Amino acid sequence: MQTLNLNGNQMPILGLGTWKSAPGEVYTAVKEAIKIGYRHIDCAAIYNNEKEVGKAIKESIAEGIVAREQLWITSKLWNNMHGEENVIPALKKTLADLQLDYLDLYLIHWPVAQGKLFVGASRAEHFVSLEDRPIANTWKGMEKAVENGLTKTIGVSNFSMKKLKELLTASTIKPAINQVEIHPYFQQDELVDFCHSNNIHLTAYSPLGSPDRPTGLKGENEPILLEDKTIESIANKHKHSIAQTILAWDINRGISVIPKSVNPERLKQSLQAAELELPDSDMQTIKSLNKNFRLVNGKFFELPGGPYTAKNIWDE
Ligand code: A2P
Repeated sequence: MQTLNLNGNQMPILGLGTWKSAPGEVYTAVKEAIKIGYRHIDCAAIYNNEKEVGKAIKESIAEGIVAREQLWITSKLWNNMHGEENVIPALKKTLADLQLDYLDLYLIHWPVAQGKLFVGASRAEHFVSLEDRPIANTWKGMEKAVENGLTKTIGVSNFSMKKLKELLTASTIKPAINQVEIHPYFQQDELVDFCHSNNIHLTAYSPLGSPDRPTGLKGENEPILLEDKTIESIANKHKHSIAQTILAWDINRGISVIPKSVNPERLKQSLQAAELELPDSDMQTIKSLNKNFRLVNGKFFELPGGPYTAKNIWDE
C-alpha cells in the first residue's frame, strides 16, 4: 500500500476509522481489520473506545498476526487537555488504554479548549478561549511528547489555514498532518494546496460522508454521498463500489483516508480501494461534484456567550 512520509515515518495511506464504532463492535472490527491487512488505525480519546481498540491490537500482536512496528496508530488530544502541562498526562492515559509504549501520530483534535474538568462542554463557561489557552503553548507539550519518545510524529485536526500559519511560525517541530473533513461534496482545495505546499499531509475524516453520525450532527434534506448517481456510474464502469470510488479519489490526490466500518465485508472492500487507480477524466468528474458542504460544522461548540463559533473555528 502507498504510504505518506511523515518526517521519515511511513504512514499507510488508508487506515481504519474508529469514530462512532461502539464499544462491543470496535474490538471485533479492529481484530478483523488487522487480520485482513489494515496497518493504520485512527483513534481518539474522546471516542471512548480506546481500551477495546487496545485489546484488539494487543491480541493481534500476541497472536503473531502483526508486529507493533508494522502498525501505524494515531490518537488525539481532547479539548479539556489543552495546555503544555496537560499533553503528556493525556497522552500517557491514551497509551495506557491502547496498551502501547508509543504512538505513531498524536493530533490536537480541535482548535477548541475546554476546562480540564469538562470533557463534555455544555455551557459557555466550560470553554476556555484560545487567548487564555494558546495553541502555541499546547504545541510545546506536543513537541515534548516527541522528545520523550511517546509519539513519533505530531499534527493537528480541524485547523484552518490561518491557524496553521500561526502554528508554523510558533513551532520547532512542524505539524506533519492536518486531519480534516474531506469528501467529494467538501473538497477543501485551497486548504489541501496550502498544506501540500507547506509539507503538511492531509487525512480525510468522514471520507464516506459519515451516514452514521449522530442525529444532532445531521441537517434536513442533506445530500447523501454514498447514493451519488455520478459516482455510481463511475463505480459501475470500473466494477467498484461507490465507497471504493470515493476512497480511491482521495488516495489518487495523495490524501490519506480513514473510513470507519464495523462490517467485515465493507472493511475488505474499503481496504481494496487503496489499490485502485482512477483515470484523470473520472478524477475531474468527481472534482465537479463539490458542493462545499461541511457535515461536521463545529456548531456544537457554539454556545451563547462562549468563546467559540463555527466562524472563528474555521476562520471563514
Ligand atoms: P458500517 O460501519 O456498518 O460498515 P465515514 O467513514 O465517512 O464516517 O463513514 C462510515 C459509514 O460508512 C458507516 O455507516 C459505515 O457502516 C459505512 N461504510 C463503511 N465502509 C463502507 C463501504 N465500503 N461501503 C458502504 N458503506 C460503508
